[in-house]
Amino acid sequence: MPKSKIAGVGMYIPEQVVTNNDLTQVMDTNDAWIQERTGIKERHYAAPYKETSTTMGVKAAAIAIERAGITAQDIDLILFATLSPDYYFPGCGVLLQRTMGMREIGAIDIRNQCSGFIYSISIADQFIKTGMYKNILVVGAEVHSFGLDFTTRGRNVTVIFGDGAGAVVLQATEKENQGILSTHLHSDGLGAELLSMMNPGFHGGIHEPDESKKQRQTNQPFGRAFMSPEEMAAYDFYPNMDGQAVFKKAVDKFPEVIMEALHTSGLKPSDINLLIPHQANLRISQFIQHKLKLRDDQVHNNIQKFGNTTAASIPIALCEAWEMGKIKEGDLVCLAAFGSGFTWGSALLRW
Ligand code: UT7
Repeated sequence: MPKSKIAGVGMYIPEQVVTNNDLTQVMDTNDAWIQERTGIKERHYAAPYKETSTTMGVKAAAIAIERAGITAQDIDLILFATLSPDYYFPGCGVLLQRTMGMREIGAIDIRNQCSGFIYSISIADQFIKTGMYKNILVVGAEVHSFGLDFTTRGRNVTVIFGDGAGAVVLQATEKENQGILSTHLHSDGLGAELLSMMNPGFHGGIHEPDESKKQRQTNQPFGRAFMSPEEMAAYDFYPNMDGQAVFKKAVDKFPEVIMEALHTSGLKPSDINLLIPHQANLRISQFIQHKLKLRDDQVHNNIQKFGNTTAASIPIALCEAWEMGKIKEGDLVCLAAFGSGFTWGSALLRW
């Protein structure tokens, strides 16, 4: 049975750097608080009206495809993980397929937020193992900056997030000691609202408007009523997070799902050459490192420079670590993520 190896990695980081001090110009926050609680010094923001999750994803993908020694025509399937798609629908996968002039291959968008890249890798791995596809492009890309609350009210969320894209080409390999050993996916919907965006501009989902809103005459006779500008201002259509609850669950589930992957292959934390945790918060990464008794050189973090880029954070960190020469053939690499949903997962691979 073929296994999947990562044959090429790429990343794209938008040019504009936004430091913690820049954020103090628009909200009540400070560099010391942000660095102490999250480790973040700066993040990058996409260029408005020029860069989107798709355009950045395409740039990262082009590099990954070139490094895999193939062309866009060789890709058999696209998996695009993002919570910030260019359009509400269709997804970014088809936009990437169009931009890169690919064949009429399948294109799937994955809506799993911080664990979206791990979920995508796991899905791609299954398609390769069955022999259905040989080259699968997996992209994680996010433009958070267009949807954040840049007032003091949104500071606990806004200071964390950044924009960027990363991509890998997963390729079939028959080599004995190479490729993905296992992937592990989990969810717990009980925490769904603790890190969420519930109302992206309309009376959302199951949350009924109050009486006064119900009585309002609208031009929407059936279904939901769209919001007026006044209501837009009052409603919470920005991302919302109970940071402490998310933190607690994350430090519980990250080590658990990493150990699950190691146990599956009869390995232990000391066997890991490089752990790349989703870059949620440097304190979370440090907690995992401490819990698993890993040395500094066994964990790669870059949240200090890029912030939390959700689905893009793992492929960006993976690409950066590879470019720095931190990953060599035969190395045991572990990828792990936890985030909104809650969803979490891990992937263990031999490079
Ligand atoms: O990638 C997706 C998964 N997400 C995560 O894993 C995030 C997990 N959570 C976290 O990283 C942390 O909870 C945060 C960094 C988001 C927040 O840190 P915290 O230590 O949990 O702070 P807090 O929300 O409990 O707030 C503590 C105080 C509050 O003030 P009071 O009530 O004590 O007066 C906040 O209003 O800090 C205040 N605060 C801020 N102050 C300055 C919250 N955000 C800020 C800010 N600047 N940006």
